Amino acid sequence: MTADKIEDVAKRRGFFFPSSEIYGGMSGFYDYGHLGTLMKRKFESVWKRHFLSLSDNFYEIETSDIMPESVFVASGHLQNFVDPMVKCSRCGNTERADHVLEDVLKESFEGLTAKELTGIIKKHGIKCEKCKGQLEDVGILNMMFPVVVGTVKEAKAYLRPETAQGAYVNFSRAWEHLRRQLPLGLAIIGKAYRNEISPRNVLVRMREFTQAELQIFFDPDTIAVHEDFEAVKDCKLRLFPIGSRKANNVEETTCGELAKKLPKFYVYHLAKIQEFYLDVLKLPRDKFRFKELSEEERAFYNKYHWDIQVQMNAGWTEIGGLHYRTDHDLSGHAKVSKKDMSVNIEGRKFVPHVLEISMGVDRNVFALLELGYRQEKERDVFELPRLLAPFDAAVFPLVNRDGMQEKAQEIKKTLEKAKFTVFYDDSGSIGRRYRRMDEVGVPLCITIDSETLGGGTVTLRDRDSMKQVHVAVSELAEQVDMFLHGARVEDVGEVVKKSKAE
Ligand code: ATP
Ligand code: GLY
Repeated sequence: MTADKIEDVAKRRGFFFPSSEIYGGMSGFYDYGHLGTLMKRKFESVWKRHFLSLSDNFYEIETSDIMPESVFVASGHLQNFVDPMVKCSRCGNTERADHVLEDVLKESFEGLTAKELTGIIKKHGIKCEKCKGQLEDVGILNMMFPVVVGTVKEAKAYLRPETAQGAYVNFSRAWEHLRRQLPLGLAIIGKAYRNEISPRNVLVRMREFTQAELQIFFDPDTIAVHEDFEAVKDCKLRLFPIGSRKANNVEETTCGELAKKLPKFYVYHLAKIQEFYLDVLKLPRDKFRFKELSEEERAFYNKYHWDIQVQMNAGWTEIGGLHYRTDHDLSGHAKVSKKDMSVNIEGRKFVPHVLEISMGVDRNVFALLELGYRQEKERDVFELPRLLAPFDAAVFPLVNRDGMQEKAQEIKKTLEKAKFTVFYDDSGSIGRRYRRMDEVGVPLCITIDSETLGGGTVTLRDRDSMKQVHVAVSELAEQVDMFLHGARVEDVGEVVKKSKAE
């Protein structure tokens, strides 16, 4: 299954499609339809619920997308946020040089200098993938989008390439407004912009995308501890350390073991990220891992850097990362802005360090759509994480008479009052209605029939197993909640022996 196939299905069903499509679209820009928007918002709210609950001192903020040049002088992006670019001397096509090599030689060339990449291109005689023309020497392109603000040409600004800087420039205010306590977490969910040389793989590499990032400011003297470490110490992490690359195997290592090599503060947050994917979103365990990055591969501001990866059709793909950014950003801003970024705790003055949990929302949404897509003999289905499906449930009257439509509407309203998102459908056969819901990933269908009117039960049908159970209307909201949080359908009602209309 290719990314293009998922794009095609997503486009037809209204998840997402090229932006400004009526004008031919622009490479690297996408719009979301209403199903995609519902799913994206659900990802964001589940993300917030999980990561902001890690501490009473973690908060969400919202900051500007456009920031003055000084921010990026201080952060180092102006100088270092560059990608290697290679141009074809015949057709003029430009590509990211390390990706051209990766496609041909099937290994990673991330972090190599322009000179090194040029050398490898020459050594292997690699040509333009479009016209087989000669490739020029590799150059460097800064990926930030410059913006002219107002009429003052020299007041340079940029669209932010990461949400993180919004938290750093606001740190002193947050410190004053909040509890003057560390760790202090500032989360931002918002747009980031990068002039990617070759956008590709649909939502995996866009030029405008959404990040969900949490900046955790902490005292560097306490990096070796975390007050809740005991709770995760036996948790087995799925790791792909540098040493495992040759053997190409994922190691399962307990947090306790890993903490002999990495600080507990860092390891604790790896465990919480894995918990988010495996326990909350319920991704298959074998599709998830953390990849350790070498010094050359790490982002320029990181001391420790493990990528969060999932196994997609094109191979293991980064969907986020856990970055130990030290005092790189706050000290950079102190220097350029001449504002003190230090805190004073019990007479000790220091600049806090930062641990960053960074995720791309669109990349996650795309990965989850791709991982969940199945083409079966009789149906097409998105087996999305139950908590992220565009709708939690669909409600159907079995037939459009005898007051079943009214009863179905009444049940829909009751579920919506209980904060579930519900889709109502009364057109076509029940079998067709099931198929339509399978195609957009709705995990549960609820059918209202004569038993609902008489005895007070509805039929629940599970998207993945297609099993059906009877549930009393009086218990419906509770059982739907249990199901969405991972219960098997057999455990929320009485199994129907002969399934209806499959
Ligand atoms: P890559 O190596 O794939 O270019 P990156 O290492 O530059 O990614 P980061 O700078 O660490 O990515 O960005 C943090 C997260 O933001 C990524 O893990 C990813 O989920 C998301 N992200 C980064 N660039 C893009 C993009 N161009 N389109 C969509 N999401 C992105
Ligand atoms: N904020 C981390 C990143 O975008 O890479």
